[in-house]
Amino acid sequence: MPEQERNDFTLAYQDSCSGPTILLIHGFPLNSSMWESQIEDLSDMARVLAPDLRGFGLSEATPAPYSMEMMADDCMGLLDSLGVQEPVIVCGLSMGGYIAFEFYRRFPDWVAALVLTATRAGADDEAGRASRDKMIASVRERGVEPVSRAMVPKLLAPDTYERNEMLVNFVREMVETSTPEGLVGALEAMKARPDSTPMLADISVPVLIIHGEADQIIPVSQAEAMRDAIPNTKLVVLPGAGHLPNLEQADAFNEAVWDFLQSLEEEVE
Ligand code: MLT
Repeated sequence: MPEQERNDFTLAYQDSCSGPTILLIHGFPLNSSMWESQIEDLSDMARVLAPDLRGFGLSEATPAPYSMEMMADDCMGLLDSLGVQEPVIVCGLSMGGYIAFEFYRRFPDWVAALVLTATRAGADDEAGRASRDKMIASVRERGVEPVSRAMVPKLLAPDTYERNEMLVNFVREMVETSTPEGLVGALEAMKARPDSTPMLADISVPVLIIHGEADQIIPVSQAEAMRDAIPNTKLVVLPGAGHLPNLEQADAFNEAVWDFLQSLEEEVE
């Protein structure tokens, strides 16, 4: 996997190298290997770039806290240093979606379209922030294990969790490669993230929203609310998928993104 020296850490990323660029931003507490099937299927049509965010996968951790601005800047820094010249399609899952909103806020001219998956526009409420603090304290005390134990069963639909042992193990291994500092940094970033709801009506690029019907972390109603507020958008709800629709229903997910990319090409012609 290629790596890049940044000012304060080494960032690892996957790059399939041809076509319009799609930037895949992973969720918490995962890494770019969650996008394996998308990298394989979409590479015929797009240059697929998938960074490991700082502290996750093969990217180094820097001391917590992190922020949405910092992680959006890391993504922009990657595009910049690879010499990407055209606006990109930004696809973020969950925390990756929060970063996609921030990326759009900071670099609107660099966004050709958005794919928002298993995410929401709102900020954490008081209870949400308190539960981030609790998780931060457990990670400080016991490392990655409490996050893995709490999150793996919730990341997948109950049915996937019961029946697909291979996927459960894949997700668990991914979670367990995260560094404690990366987990704390990202938890702080999510806790402090701004409310993106006020900007939804002003999003001027095409948006595809994809959500798992059985998402246990972010309910489908959040995706519906985004669909109702964003002007040029389409919502695809995938039955049989939880919080990781790109893994649980990879073919249907890839088909939705593929169709969206095609519709963008047709718009340009
Ligand atoms: C994620 O999947 O990125 C996180 O569960 C999002 C969150 O905790 O808000």
